[in-house]
Amino acid sequence: MSEPTPKPVTASTRLAAVWGSPIRHSASPAMHNAGFAALGLDWRYVAFEVAPERLAVALEGARAMGFCGVNLTVPHKVLALGLMDVLDASAEAWGAVNTVVFEAENAEGVWTPVGQLRSVTGPVRLCGHNTDADAIVRALRDDLLIEPRGARVLLLGAGGAGKAAALRLADEGVETLWLQNRTASKAAGLAAEIAERFPAVDVRVGLPDTDVEIVLNATSSGLKPEDPLPLDVASYPLARADGVYDMIYRPAETPLLRAAREAGCRTANGLGMLLYQGAAAFELWTGRLAPVEVMRAALVREVQGSPGEAR
Ligand SMILES: NC(=O)c1ccc[n+]([C@@H]2O[C@H](COP(=O)([O-])OP(=O)(O)OC[C@H]3O[C@@H](n4cnc5c(N)ncnc54)[C@H](OP(=O)(O)O)[C@@H]3O)[C@@H](O)[C@H]2O)c1
Repeated sequence: MSEPTPKPVTASTRLAAVWGSPIRHSASPAMHNAGFAALGLDWRYVAFEVAPERLAVALEGARAMGFCGVNLTVPHKVLALGLMDVLDASAEAWGAVNTVVFEAENAEGVWTPVGQLRSVTGPVRLCGHNTDADAIVRALRDDLLIEPRGARVLLLGAGGAGKAAALRLADEGVETLWLQNRTASKAAGLAAEIAERFPAVDVRVGLPDTDVEIVLNATSSGLKPEDPLPLDVASYPLARADGVYDMIYRPAETPLLRAAREAGCRTANGLGMLLYQGAAAFELWTGRLAPVEVMRAALVREVQGSPGEAR
């Protein structure tokens, strides 16, 4: 099937972007531009290398230039919390911003995404959202085919992505959450936060003493071929898990996923998480239903076609 031709770039083309450092290997432009083309939207999505010390000035520039939306990736997500005019409940709850929606008042004085307005006359404000956290729950459900609610979950990693996943899974109502991190103090701090905010969840630090439904890798170990497994499988054999989800999507099969497949587990990589956070951002900016399967196919093509890692 031939792909829809993107509209030519004109003086009225609307802009969205992803900013990070490094950003050169981001798969997000391919995903979003395929989505815009499929819906016949006169929009483009580009990637910019933005250093953290330039984030504030970059946001002011985008506001002045009429950008409709920006995605933020490493190292901007937490820093951006203090740079927004307003935070959506998702950014408040998960403590990070990965999607900025530029908003202006419509004729009725209601703040509305700039991308859904014909013209903007008054001031523009920056509204920070987090679409990452919901994406991980959707990916476990849709791609791993395991329901997180009521599940026992072993989560590896307590960095930015691990923290957001842990908090969101606790909110979703997992039964027991084991947190395992190379730097044990980070896992302990996160466990304490979960115990306080989600007292119904049984949260523990270390490896489970029982079978689990889900092992979720939120460490960056597995990005490089020489990386060790993020889990000591002699202490906790993968056969004790129904499914293993790896947030890494490049390589498509990490050593952890290969070992899990060989142990008979259901497996999925992080491509779905990337897709679902992108689809949610697309919908916030455009007000249109994201063409998820078109965007998934574009991501798969992009990821299979080039090495590297970044969103
Ligand atoms: N699919 C998606 O849409 C998506 C979205 C976000 C992130 N991700 C992926 O998720 C991973 C984590 O991202 P992040 O933003 O959370 O990064 P981060 O904040 O830098 O955290 C990195 C985590 O990995 C751990 N780690 C690093 N090297 C390790 C090793 N050799 N062995 C064991 N643990 C190791 C770190 O442990 P310490 O605390 O001990 O340093 C920390 O928990 C990355 O691979 C990223 O690409 C994917």
